[in-house]
Amino acid sequence: MSEKNSCSNELDNCNSAKETTEINLQNHWEKSYEKDTTQLGWYQESAKESMGLIAKATISKDEKIIDIGSGSSILIDDLLDVGYSNIIASDISASALQNTKNRLSEEELTRVSWMTDDLTEPTELKSLSNIAIWHDRAVFHFLTKEKDRQTYFNLLDNAVASGKYVIIATFNLTGAERCSGLPVQQYDEKGIAKFLGENYQLIEFFDFDYTMPNGGVRPYVYTLFRKK
Ligand SMILES: C[S@@+](CC[C@H](N)C(=O)[O-])C[C@H]1O[C@@H](n2cnc3c(N)ncnc32)[C@H](O)[C@@H]1O
Repeated sequence: MSEKNSCSNELDNCNSAKETTEINLQNHWEKSYEKDTTQLGWYQESAKESMGLIAKATISKDEKIIDIGSGSSILIDDLLDVGYSNIIASDISASALQNTKNRLSEEELTRVSWMTDDLTEPTELKSLSNIAIWHDRAVFHFLTKEKDRQTYFNLLDNAVASGKYVIIATFNLTGAERCSGLPVQQYDEKGIAKFLGENYQLIEFFDFDYTMPNGGVRPYVYTLFRKK
């Protein structure tokens, strides 16, 4: 396995050997957020790659944007900074979302709602509708079972309004094979397009080499789709 695809350093949070089927997913992710979030192998100081695609989606600032598997992502702060007012942050880990809440002002908190839910066994997520942007960075690639991908697609397709947008960023075909101790499925834009099907038109995509806090590189593909 190449250096790029290995999980050699504890700081990339990729050193556990457990498989998805053997672990309680919520406990797993809660535990990963016990660490300093700025040292996690997906931490970003800025979500500028996502924000570039969000700007291309040309929605109004008061339309609904959901960040799926948001963790403690800076994307929420970046969206607030440019005036979005109807943001939903969702994750399986309540403490990950609490980290984001702790950073926000009272005024900013009025513009975000929170959903602690499991994408693979959703409850509250099923109520989503009229979403203008579905954003997912580094979550979809953890769904290595067909039934989980189907559940994810049903949620997405039910939630996203016609004419609106889906942004999915995953490890690309040259990217890592595991992260956070879990296996991942790698994609290129064609693979994500095939998953979404013909009702979603690929608008833009690019490869991006993300540098982790420990200096290791994780190659991603970013994609923007429009639902017909
Ligand atoms: C690699 S992190 C990415 C976090 C965030 N999107 C970012 O870019 O910083 C993956 C996130 O997906 C969440 N997650 C993993 N499996 C999930 C599931 N089945 N349902 C909901 N969230 C999940 C984890 O808790 C974690 O916050």
